[in-house]
Amino acid sequence: MTEIPITQINLPPGFIDLGIGNPDFDLLPMELLHQSTEAYFASGDLRSLQYGLEQGDGYFRRALANFLTVAYGTRVDPNLLFVTTGASSALDLLCTLYTKPGEVIFVEEPSYFLALRIFEDHGLRVIPIPMDDDGLRLDALDEKLAEFSPKFIYTIPTFQNPSGWTLSQAQREKLVERAQQYNFLVLADEVYHFLPYNQTPPQPFAAFAEEVEQVISVNSFSKIMAPGLRLGWIQAHGAVIKRLAGSGMLDSGGGMNPFTSALVRELIESGGLQKNITSLRKEYTLRLNAMDAALRQHLPAAEYSLPQGGFFFWVRLPGVDAVELRQKAQEFEVGLRQGELFSSRMGMQDYIRLSFCFYRPEAIEEGIKRLRECLGK
Ligand SMILES: Cc1ncc(COP(=O)(O)O)c(C=O)c1O
Repeated sequence: MTEIPITQINLPPGFIDLGIGNPDFDLLPMELLHQSTEAYFASGDLRSLQYGLEQGDGYFRRALANFLTVAYGTRVDPNLLFVTTGASSALDLLCTLYTKPGEVIFVEEPSYFLALRIFEDHGLRVIPIPMDDDGLRLDALDEKLAEFSPKFIYTIPTFQNPSGWTLSQAQREKLVERAQQYNFLVLADEVYHFLPYNQTPPQPFAAFAEEVEQVISVNSFSKIMAPGLRLGWIQAHGAVIKRLAGSGMLDSGGGMNPFTSALVRELIESGGLQKNITSLRKEYTLRLNAMDAALRQHLPAAEYSLPQGGFFFWVRLPGVDAVELRQKAQEFEVGLRQGELFSSRMGMQDYIRLSFCFYRPEAIEEGIKRLRECLGK
């Protein structure tokens, strides 16, 4: 019987795709959602089945603000949160409202390849800014600022996808200063902020967002709960929130995902979200260590810095063409993502991105062994 597709993942049996940046099916919080759904229906409050407030369900925003206040250690105002259907939809809406085709934006090099596709959909001219182990290189940013007036810079400041790098607190402050001085937006995609394993991340850009109109923090439940919820949020200055909530799309369709917001509100208030994050961090730490050990043992030529959080190893294989490697790896039933995908100038040819979150440690080791065999042939 042919299976009818439901998810984006479509793998032949036995294939280990270390390129997949999704959470493991086994870690999706079915039980927690079951409980919160029962609690929601028991409440008898069916308002979330109506068109929602443009900014997003106020009770949900209050619960989320309380959660974030504890997580960030600084007070978060529910009035400065805006509900989205995830980080991707946030980026798309921000592009719709703040850019016109042909305008210049800056991105990190490398960057999250699917965000690059969203920017392409909006006809934006993408200028890459190189990074090093401390994140975005500000000297390179300054050079580009002398040449271009970008509408925004897109950054993934913490445990970046794909590199795993984190921008230091001092660099964050300097970037915000530049944004104010040159009047461009900082779109900070902070989806990995809540997944540190070895290192506490610096203050999120969200901590600047309420005061500084140029800074917009984008976040999501995809990595800390489940991508299928299609739920996320933006934290920003009041003027930005007003502009977002005033968009034509929301005027017509109402606020985003009110029903899911009501379920997730229950989950936050019951402590389920925190519980889930704690257990994910524990499991992902095991998987990270498994991938590190397997790489050391089976691929000693691989160059990488150990990720401190997030989902990915960003591995350099000197002298290897990663596009060819990905193709050849198919025969060995193992997958990866070639570095070039994450480059907006077709660079990063000898890099690969490996995810340690989708598979259990045994499968991770088996996948790395298959890669070794593939590289040996
Ligand atoms: C940096 C980054 N931003 C956004 C997303 C997608 O987020 P969402 O599912 O909330 O649209 C991902 C998923 O891989 C990601 O890595």
